Amino acid sequence: MTDPALDADSLRERALTTLTTARARTTLLTSCVEDPDLTAQHSPLMSPLVWDLAHIGNQEEQWLLRTVAGRDAMRPEIDGIYDAFEHPRSERPSLPLLPPAEARHYAAEVRGRVLDLLESTAFHGTRLTEAGFAFGMIAQHEQQHDETMLITHQLRKGPQALTAPDPDPAPLFTGPSEVLVPGGPFTMGTSTEPWALDNERPAHRREVPPFHIDTTPVTNAAFQAFIEDGGYDTERWWTPEGWAHIRQHSIHAPLFWHRDGRQWLRRRFGVTEVVPPDEPVLHVCWYEADAYARWAGRRLPTEAEWEKAARHDPAGDRTMRYPWGDAEPRPEHANLGQRHLRPAPAGSYPEGESPLGVRQLIGDVWEWTASDFLPYPGFQAFPYKEYSEVFFGPEHKVLRGGSFAVDAVACRGTFRNWDYPIRRQIFSGFRTARSAGDV
Ligand code: AVJ
Ligand code: FE
Repeated sequence: MTDPALDADSLRERALTTLTTARARTTLLTSCVEDPDLTAQHSPLMSPLVWDLAHIGNQEEQWLLRTVAGRDAMRPEIDGIYDAFEHPRSERPSLPLLPPAEARHYAAEVRGRVLDLLESTAFHGTRLTEAGFAFGMIAQHEQQHDETMLITHQLRKGPQALTAPDPDPAPLFTGPSEVLVPGGPFTMGTSTEPWALDNERPAHRREVPPFHIDTTPVTNAAFQAFIEDGGYDTERWWTPEGWAHIRQHSIHAPLFWHRDGRQWLRRRFGVTEVVPPDEPVLHVCWYEADAYARWAGRRLPTEAEWEKAARHDPAGDRTMRYPWGDAEPRPEHANLGQRHLRPAPAGSYPEGESPLGVRQLIGDVWEWTASDFLPYPGFQAFPYKEYSEVFFGPEHKVLRGGSFAVDAVACRGTFRNWDYPIRRQIFSGFRTARSAGDV
């Protein structure tokens, strides 16, 4: 390997750093409220926080201590409780969960052994240890659950428990509202990113016709214009499934919004505030994103369009790791890692823009795409079918780019997230596109 960031010593250090960062976040998210709030279920969509905590430890034990190191189970009786496939989230509060102190102790004990293992494991030899993949996978897994736990905190009733500084106010964005992405093939996915998960592989060529894409995510102000124009009461903007869903559930605005006289307020981590007009809209489902796009005379980008906008450098037909190039994300590039507990205003992060001038593709809000979650040609499940394969199909839509709540280790130009089109407790927004030639 020629890239110095990808040699074994750098990867080992990166594994240590990312595991440590993840645990600091997990600890904060599970110590900022009292025990009753850790064992309670705050929404039937979510696990009790104490389940996430022990599940993080249990996955780490299973993959690193048992599979990689060949050790015996530390607590074989708890595996079933923390198997996400054995028990749906709604059932988890009634399981004999480890109480908070025991869950913390278990996760810490696993971590202590894992740090010893990290020092002694060769970063080659098997597919799991090659480039430290299993350590990277487990760091990503913990960060994914840290985002999940932040969603639980957002759903939790009661006073504020978490605080973070706001993003710097952005200078007014004066760029164009959309850019043209030229047609032609580009390389989608990856075969070289060491810690890319199975669904991001392999790299393959994709033909993408020319299209225009928004330079920033759709803002609250723009979404309010859709609302004021009767968007939620106009059947023709919605797919039949979307229309049936919003009627049945009386959905008239993004989740956590309510109207106070003439203005919209929202609840964010226990605080009620005026909806900030310049921020990317957050907590909308796929149906709402799709309907807004149709109202605007546009459509959602396909997943391939999104990735081409994010990774293709038209000068030199090169596919990059990130919109700004190949460098790991820094705070100037993108709003990631729960440094802030909200998206930054649309047009922020000039240093993170793509060669064509598209901003905030990485970080701020997960972006719904038009695409179903499907395998790439040549996909192979690794290391387990339950990470991606069992979710492939038309019932899940792909989201791209990561949110303010996800850490850089679990967010790349190739990273694919997915969810049901009705979901909106996630940190989801969107941007729109149109085919070149369409007005
Ligand atoms: C990729 C975010 C959809 O949270 O269900 C966590 C990640 N997989 N534990 C999820 C995951 C196993 C997954 N998402
Ligand atoms: Fe998990």
